[in-house]
Amino acid sequence: MDTPTLLTGQILTFNGDPFVDPWAECVHIDSAGAVLVEGAHIAATGSADTLKRLHPQAKIISYGDHLICPGFVDAHTHYPQTAMIASWGKRLIDWLNTYTFPEEIRFADRDYADDIAARYLDLTAANGTTTMASFATIHPHSVDALFSAAQARGQCVVTGKTCMDRNAPDGLRDTAQSAYDDSKALIARWQGKGRAQYAITPRFSPTSTPAQLDAMGALWAEHPDCLMQTHLSEQTDEIEWVHSLFPQARDYLDTYEAHGLLGARGLYGHSIHLTPREVDQLAEVQGRVIHCPTSNAFIGSGALNLPALAARRIPLGLATDTGGGSSFSMLRTMAAAYEAAQHHGHAMHAAQLMWLATAGSAHALHLGDQIGSLKAGHYADLAVLDLRSTAAIAQRANRSGSVWEDVFATVMMGDDRAVHATWISGKCVNG
Ligand code: GUN
Ligand code: ZN
Repeated sequence: MDTPTLLTGQILTFNGDPFVDPWAECVHIDSAGAVLVEGAHIAATGSADTLKRLHPQAKIISYGDHLICPGFVDAHTHYPQTAMIASWGKRLIDWLNTYTFPEEIRFADRDYADDIAARYLDLTAANGTTTMASFATIHPHSVDALFSAAQARGQCVVTGKTCMDRNAPDGLRDTAQSAYDDSKALIARWQGKGRAQYAITPRFSPTSTPAQLDAMGALWAEHPDCLMQTHLSEQTDEIEWVHSLFPQARDYLDTYEAHGLLGARGLYGHSIHLTPREVDQLAEVQGRVIHCPTSNAFIGSGALNLPALAARRIPLGLATDTGGGSSFSMLRTMAAAYEAAQHHGHAMHAAQLMWLATAGSAHALHLGDQIGSLKAGHYADLAVLDLRSTAAIAQRANRSGSVWEDVFATVMMGDDRAVHATWISGKCVNG
């Protein structure tokens, strides 16, 4: 057994959902705390003095007054869009056709997929992100590329082959049958192997025929332990298109529901323009709404009223949606979530934002018993944040009256410079 390591600093812990109970009862910062890491896991968290006394043999790494928090969990992203992030001037469907699909065609080359997977995991680790739910491309080896790169780093990643059998260019279409067969083979190869989590991945209903959605629904019924990820109600033009493609559907969600693709292990990215029936259904089955605020602003999709969905007890995750999202940073994403909620008259607290980016997203991915909190038994996936990472943030922190004011300044103004270190499976991978 390796010698245990004791990381000391300010530590962020949760004992409740700050969208259900007052945030101050649910989220705590211990200014003289510590996390004891043994192997890949957290063995204990608590006061630094106590843990030093109880574990005199532990190697101590002092992070001073940096904030040690759970590694960020990005609940919806597209690793294949890494190289075309920040592409100018289009709205959703044009943006997909102009920038996204041509880039995804390049993943026919396995070496390219491996290069981008490694680049993506480096960039996200530099931003303190330790787990993500990523779409791959239609190429099964694009799934192998990300899972293999993650496995080599001891990292928990959710991904799946993106399925599209219409409204996509040559080279990016499969069929209902091949999507089923390829996804099933990938599930057999990866699901539950090490830290790999497979998500059945119909991209969105415009790019799947009803026959393909049926095949995905059947596959999910055969593998109910898998997640299912897709897009829902992102842009108003897209919603109109869905109505014309599925004239019998009651609404966008119904295009999934009617094919067995609505459930608690379903991750519904964006979900901005929901009808009351869609909200009721998601609340009823506990389908996960994944908020992608930088993407929603960048592509001009709209501002999700997240606090209103939280009030309905719909489980929520937070996500970059790289490369529709304009950043790899979950700090930047929290800032955008704050700004989107302000459009609806809600000021989310920094404690709620930090919870969304960690424990909330982990719960959305059904991984809340393994990651997302600094708890004994969880994986030692951590981010260490410097709360004075730039001159602009430091001068604001000098004026602050509480650690939460410091955290809020870093949430609103921080980026990868605020990420002093990232730990995955008990190993420091950055910093
Ligand atoms: N809807 C379908 N595919 C995509 C995608 O790649 N990005 C975004 N933002 N929305 C989508
Ligand atoms: Zn997306």
